[in-house]
Amino acid sequence: MSEKEMLYVAKIKNGTVIDHITAGHAMNVAKILGIGEKSNMVVTIAMNVPSRDFGKKDMVKIEGRELKPDEVDKIALLAPHATINIIRDYEVKDKEEVKLPKIVKGIIKCANPACISNSNEPVQPMFYVRSEEPLSVKCHYCGYIMEKQDILKQF
Ligand code: CTP
Ligand code: ZN
Repeated sequence: MSEKEMLYVAKIKNGTVIDHITAGHAMNVAKILGIGEKSNMVVTIAMNVPSRDFGKKDMVKIEGRELKPDEVDKIALLAPHATINIIRDYEVKDKEEVKLPKIVKGIIKCANPACISNSNEPVQPMFYVRSEEPLSVKCHYCGYIMEKQDILKQF
Protein backbone atom coordinates (compact mmCIF):
# COMPACT_ATOMS: atom_id res chain seq x y z
CA MET A 1 0.00 0.00 0.00
CA SER A 2 1.38 3.40 -0.91
CA GLU A 3 1.77 6.22 1.63
CA LYS A 4 -0.91 8.09 -0.24
CA GLU A 5 -3.46 5.29 0.23
CA MET A 6 -2.63 5.03 3.94
CA LEU A 7 -3.92 8.53 4.40
CA TYR A 8 -7.39 7.39 3.51
CA VAL A 9 -8.20 4.10 5.21
CA ALA A 10 -7.11 2.18 8.26
CA LYS A 11 -6.01 -1.45 8.10
CA ILE A 12 -8.41 -4.09 9.27
CA LYS A 13 -7.69 -7.01 11.63
CA ASN A 14 -9.69 -9.88 10.14
CA GLY A 15 -11.90 -9.98 7.11
CA THR A 16 -11.89 -9.11 3.43
CA VAL A 17 -10.58 -6.14 1.49
CA ILE A 18 -11.99 -5.70 -1.99
CA ASP A 19 -9.42 -3.48 -3.63
CA HIS A 20 -9.00 -1.95 -7.10
CA ILE A 21 -12.76 -1.64 -7.59
CA THR A 22 -13.54 0.38 -10.72
CA ALA A 23 -14.04 3.94 -9.43
CA GLY A 24 -17.71 4.67 -8.94
CA HIS A 25 -18.73 1.10 -8.11
CA ALA A 26 -18.10 0.84 -4.35
CA MET A 27 -21.79 1.25 -3.53
CA ASN A 28 -22.77 -1.42 -6.06
CA VAL A 29 -20.26 -3.81 -4.55
CA ALA A 30 -21.66 -2.98 -1.10
CA LYS A 31 -25.13 -3.78 -2.36
CA ILE A 32 -24.01 -7.14 -3.75
CA LEU A 33 -22.62 -7.95 -0.30
CA GLY A 34 -25.83 -6.98 1.48
CA ILE A 35 -24.32 -3.92 3.11
CA GLY A 36 -27.04 -1.39 3.84
CA GLU A 37 -29.22 0.26 6.42
CA LYS A 38 -30.16 -2.98 8.10
CA SER A 39 -26.82 -4.77 8.06
CA ASN A 40 -24.59 -4.49 11.10
CA MET A 41 -21.29 -5.51 9.54
CA VAL A 42 -18.27 -3.34 10.27
CA VAL A 43 -17.48 -1.85 6.87
CA THR A 44 -15.18 0.80 5.44
CA ILE A 45 -15.89 2.20 2.00
CA ALA A 46 -13.38 4.37 0.18
CA MET A 47 -14.12 6.06 -3.12
CA ASN A 48 -11.93 7.70 -5.71
CA VAL A 49 -8.72 6.90 -3.86
CA PRO A 50 -5.59 7.58 -5.93
CA SER A 51 -4.30 4.34 -7.47
CA ARG A 52 -1.00 3.59 -9.20
CA ASP A 53 -2.58 1.42 -11.86
CA PHE A 54 -5.89 2.99 -12.75
CA GLY A 55 -5.63 6.62 -11.65
CA LYS A 56 -8.37 6.19 -9.06
CA LYS A 57 -10.20 3.31 -7.46
CA ASP A 58 -12.77 2.35 -4.86
CA MET A 59 -12.29 -0.03 -1.92
CA VAL A 60 -14.63 -1.94 0.37
CA LYS A 61 -13.33 -3.48 3.61
CA ILE A 62 -15.46 -5.83 5.69
CA GLU A 63 -14.46 -7.01 9.14
CA GLY A 64 -14.91 -10.64 10.06
CA ARG A 65 -16.41 -11.94 6.84
CA GLU A 66 -15.28 -13.73 3.70
CA LEU A 67 -17.05 -13.68 0.35
CA LYS A 68 -19.22 -16.37 -1.22
CA PRO A 69 -18.33 -17.52 -4.75
CA ASP A 70 -21.44 -15.98 -6.30
CA GLU A 71 -20.63 -12.65 -4.66
CA VAL A 72 -17.14 -12.76 -6.20
CA ASP A 73 -18.66 -13.56 -9.62
CA LYS A 74 -21.05 -10.63 -9.38
CA ILE A 75 -18.25 -8.27 -8.39
CA ALA A 76 -16.26 -9.47 -11.43
CA LEU A 77 -19.07 -8.27 -13.70
CA LEU A 78 -18.87 -4.72 -12.37
CA ALA A 79 -15.21 -4.45 -11.43
CA PRO A 80 -13.12 -6.80 -13.58
CA HIS A 81 -9.84 -5.59 -12.02
CA ALA A 82 -10.87 -6.00 -8.38
CA THR A 83 -8.59 -7.83 -6.00
CA ILE A 84 -9.97 -9.84 -3.08
CA ASN A 85 -7.60 -9.82 -0.10
CA ILE A 86 -8.22 -12.12 2.86
CA ILE A 87 -6.87 -10.52 6.04
CA ARG A 88 -5.98 -12.50 9.15
CA ASP A 89 -4.42 -10.84 12.15
CA TYR A 90 -3.63 -7.73 10.07
CA GLU A 91 -1.70 -9.73 7.45
CA VAL A 92 -2.76 -10.29 3.84
CA LYS A 93 -3.12 -14.10 3.84
CA ASP A 94 -4.52 -14.51 0.37
CA LYS A 95 -4.83 -12.24 -2.65
CA GLU A 96 -6.88 -13.11 -5.67
CA GLU A 97 -7.88 -11.14 -8.73
CA VAL A 98 -11.50 -11.61 -9.69
CA LYS A 99 -11.94 -13.27 -13.04
CA LEU A 100 -14.85 -12.77 -15.37
CA PRO A 101 -15.49 -16.05 -17.19
CA LYS A 102 -16.30 -16.05 -20.92
CA ILE A 103 -19.66 -17.62 -20.09
CA VAL A 104 -21.68 -16.39 -17.10
CA LYS A 105 -24.18 -18.86 -15.65
CA GLY A 106 -26.83 -18.42 -13.02
CA ILE A 107 -25.91 -15.11 -11.37
CA ILE A 108 -27.89 -12.78 -13.64
CA LYS A 109 -31.23 -13.03 -15.39
CA CYS A 110 -32.15 -12.22 -18.97
CA ALA A 111 -33.86 -8.82 -19.23
CA ASN A 112 -36.09 -10.05 -22.07
CA PRO A 113 -39.35 -11.13 -20.41
CA ALA A 114 -40.15 -13.42 -23.34
CA CYS A 115 -36.87 -15.35 -22.98
CA ILE A 116 -37.26 -19.05 -22.27
CA SER A 117 -34.94 -18.62 -19.27
CA ASN A 118 -37.69 -16.44 -17.72
CA SER A 119 -40.44 -19.02 -18.30
CA ASN A 120 -41.28 -21.84 -15.96
CA GLU A 121 -38.96 -24.14 -17.88
CA PRO A 122 -36.03 -25.39 -15.81
CA VAL A 123 -33.49 -23.41 -17.84
CA GLN A 124 -30.45 -21.85 -16.19
CA PRO A 125 -29.70 -18.33 -17.46
CA MET A 126 -26.50 -18.24 -19.49
CA PHE A 127 -24.68 -15.37 -21.16
CA TYR A 128 -21.66 -14.88 -23.37
CA VAL A 129 -19.36 -12.05 -22.33
CA ARG A 130 -18.85 -9.96 -25.47
CA SER A 131 -16.88 -7.21 -23.78
CA GLU A 132 -15.60 -6.69 -20.23
CA GLU A 133 -15.20 -2.95 -20.35
CA PRO A 134 -17.66 -1.58 -21.19
CA LEU A 135 -19.58 -4.64 -20.03
CA SER A 136 -21.74 -6.34 -22.62
CA VAL A 137 -23.22 -9.84 -22.40
CA LYS A 138 -25.46 -11.78 -24.77
CA CYS A 139 -28.14 -14.26 -23.76
CA HIS A 140 -27.47 -17.79 -24.99
CA TYR A 141 -31.19 -18.45 -25.47
CA CYS A 142 -32.67 -15.33 -27.05
CA GLY A 143 -29.65 -13.26 -28.09
CA TYR A 144 -30.73 -10.29 -25.99
CA ILE A 145 -27.80 -8.01 -25.21
CA MET A 146 -27.40 -6.56 -21.73
CA GLU A 147 -25.05 -3.84 -20.60
CA LYS A 148 -23.87 -2.71 -17.17
CA GLN A 149 -26.95 -0.60 -16.45
CA ASP A 150 -29.30 -3.54 -17.14
CA ILE A 151 -27.27 -5.79 -14.86
CA LEU A 152 -26.97 -3.24 -12.04
CA LYS A 153 -30.75 -3.20 -11.72
CA GLN A 154 -30.68 -6.85 -10.69
CA PHE A 155 -28.29 -6.43 -7.74
N1 CTP B 1 -5.25 -4.04 3.95
C1 CTP B 1 -6.08 -3.74 5.02
N2 CTP B 1 -5.81 -4.26 6.26
C2 CTP B 1 -4.74 -5.05 6.47
C3 CTP B 1 -3.88 -5.36 5.39
C4 CTP B 1 -4.17 -4.83 4.13
O1 CTP B 1 -7.07 -3.02 4.86
N3 CTP B 1 -4.52 -5.51 7.70
C5 CTP B 1 -5.59 -3.54 2.61
C6 CTP B 1 -4.59 -2.55 2.07
O2 CTP B 1 -5.02 -1.25 2.43
C7 CTP B 1 -4.73 -2.75 0.58
C8 CTP B 1 -5.15 -4.22 0.43
O3 CTP B 1 -5.60 -4.62 1.72
O4 CTP B 1 -5.76 -1.94 0.07
C9 CTP B 1 -4.04 -5.12 -0.01
O5 CTP B 1 -2.96 -4.97 0.87
P1 CTP B 1 -1.44 -5.13 0.36
O6 CTP B 1 -1.32 -6.40 -0.40
O7 CTP B 1 -0.57 -4.92 1.53
O8 CTP B 1 -1.33 -3.84 -0.58
P2 CTP B 1 -0.69 -3.70 -2.02
O9 CTP B 1 0.63 -4.38 -2.06
O10 CTP B 1 -0.75 -2.26 -2.38
O11 CTP B 1 -1.73 -4.52 -2.88
P3 CTP B 1 -1.78 -4.67 -4.48
O12 CTP B 1 -0.45 -5.14 -4.91
O13 CTP B 1 -2.88 -5.68 -4.67
O14 CTP B 1 -2.16 -3.31 -5.02
ZN1 ZN C 1 -32.67 -14.33 -23.02
